[in-house]
Amino acid sequence: MCGIFGYVGKENNSSIGIEALKRLEYRGYDSCGIAVFNAVKKNIGVEKVAGRISELEKKIAVKGIKGSAMIGHSRWATHGGPTVKNAHPHWDCHKDIHLVHNGIIENYKQIKDRLSKKGHKFISETDTEVLCHLIEEYATGSNGSKSYTLEEAVRRALGHVRGTYGIAVISKSDPNKIVAARMSSPLLIGVNDGEYVIASDPAAVITHTNKVIYLEDGDIAVLTKSGFRIADLNRAAQKRVEQELDWDVEEAQKGGYPHFMLKEIFEQPESLQNSIRGRLIQDEGMARLGGLEPVKERIKSIERVNILGCGTAYHAGLIGEYMFEEYAGVPCEVDFSAEFRYRKPIIDKNTAAIFVSQSGETADTLGALREAKEKGALCLGIVNTVGSSIVRMTDAGVYNHAGPEIGVASTKAFTSQLVVLALLTLYLGRLRGMSYVLGERIAKEIAKLPELTKTVLKQDNHIKEIAEKYKGAKSFLFIGRKYNYPIALEGALKLKEISYIHAEGLSAGELKHGHIALIDKNVPTIAIATRDSVYEKMLSNIQEIKARGGPVIAITTKGNTKLADIVDDIIYVPKNLEMLSPILTVIPLQLFAYHVAALNGRDVDKPRNLAKSVTVE
Ligand code: G6P
Repeated sequence: MCGIFGYVGKENNSSIGIEALKRLEYRGYDSCGIAVFNAVKKNIGVEKVAGRISELEKKIAVKGIKGSAMIGHSRWATHGGPTVKNAHPHWDCHKDIHLVHNGIIENYKQIKDRLSKKGHKFISETDTEVLCHLIEEYATGSNGSKSYTLEEAVRRALGHVRGTYGIAVISKSDPNKIVAARMSSPLLIGVNDGEYVIASDPAAVITHTNKVIYLEDGDIAVLTKSGFRIADLNRAAQKRVEQELDWDVEEAQKGGYPHFMLKEIFEQPESLQNSIRGRLIQDEGMARLGGLEPVKERIKSIERVNILGCGTAYHAGLIGEYMFEEYAGVPCEVDFSAEFRYRKPIIDKNTAAIFVSQSGETADTLGALREAKEKGALCLGIVNTVGSSIVRMTDAGVYNHAGPEIGVASTKAFTSQLVVLALLTLYLGRLRGMSYVLGERIAKEIAKLPELTKTVLKQDNHIKEIAEKYKGAKSFLFIGRKYNYPIALEGALKLKEISYIHAEGLSAGELKHGHIALIDKNVPTIAIATRDSVYEKMLSNIQEIKARGGPVIAITTKGNTKLADIVDDIIYVPKNLEMLSPILTVIPLQLFAYHVAALNGRDVDKPRNLAKSVTVE
């Protein structure tokens, strides 16, 4: 999510850090900062801004911060709003240890409480800051141990941490080096003559060197200007292979993928894991949603739910409606944000209005939020962008933690919205009488999702072949029922958005009420027909299309080989709870839309006439 960078070497200029951060800015940029060790003055100069790197650059130039060992960070907020205080680097009580972090420390609250009691002073709301103070404990020996080197203090501190991290640390009292460590957040070392860099992303390294070493989970690296060494958490030396990158900066930002959209589709196992992390209490069959704690009592007394969103977020809401009514037993309605205000919605203080938005800035959704607030509803957000307008205006909410989404067509934000809605269903359901057994089952199935999405992504080549076969079609239909009806809408939207090919998504049951007139050999239908409570009905609809000569591409559950005899092309997804199946069935549709658009030479990441965040009504 965030970008981190560190440099140690022959140069004595903080512009190296600024240039690297600019190349990381594409990952998200609500705030940024840099800490630079100056060997002559023996101090660490720090500057942070809640804004763009260019503002940071100006401030650094005015202050003349210079040095030959530095760490920098471009932040895309997760814990704590995008303010200067929350921007990285963070430091310990003595302003000695400075640290940048990419990832999430799940148990930071417990650590923070414990260290606060011992007298540590925290100034930010971030999870990251606890790492500085934990390292301080070992570096100064203030926890009763002896004083350790920076490397050893980092190692010992990390022993207390649960979560993910890519970190880079510098210290005044153990100077001229960077200590870096990785656990489930990418980190690589760039190797050059007399200089070494550490970064979360090849884009930050590529203009210095094309020789890189990817760190692995559990690695701790120490970089000085004369070399580096890597050891694991148990102090055993590690050798990692040096690789040569032949990417330019833009390619590096896309992680080697031709488009951000494809990169983001492939990030879904990780983004789903981030949305779920720390939120399932499996043995209680419950979800832990910290953001809703302040309004828990009000949530218990709500009588109905309204979900509001635009585009893809609206489709997520439609699936949320099925989930809430089937499993949480709460009446639910979904509206396009843009329509909500015009239909005099009947809402009051016993209504929870849930605003789903990737950006948190969509003008139509903000308009609906104002309306619901005015009417006294409990306003909750499911938002990906921390600190955005919707977050600030709602009473409480749940973050997606999907990471920045750059491709205009929403992919990983959508699946993260679905998983958050599933967590919310579990939470609401258990507060309203859902049995422990059912809760436990749902929790178990949610936990499986990141792994299951990997098996869907493995079919990319097969989906590309299907896209090749149908790329010339002028019009497509997408059909589904129940949980997968909104997926038919989403599949059609994805295809329209980026390939400019006409597509219609509909409930398969509606087909016979008009749309079937469109069917002929030139109009392919994509049918989402997983083995679930509506499968037999879907099968009849597929037969109706085949009887009229229409080609059918089916998405069905693994093992359902019989369907292959009826349809023209087939894509399998693994079995999961019906309510969660949309998270798996949408991925082939994202890939199909992507390949059709790319094969037709479309500008996939920036489709014509569209904007990532629509801030006008
Ligand atoms: C725009 C984007 C869509 C997105 C919609 C809602 O139209 O092009 O991809 O689904 O806005 O955006 P939000 O940020 O509120 O989720």
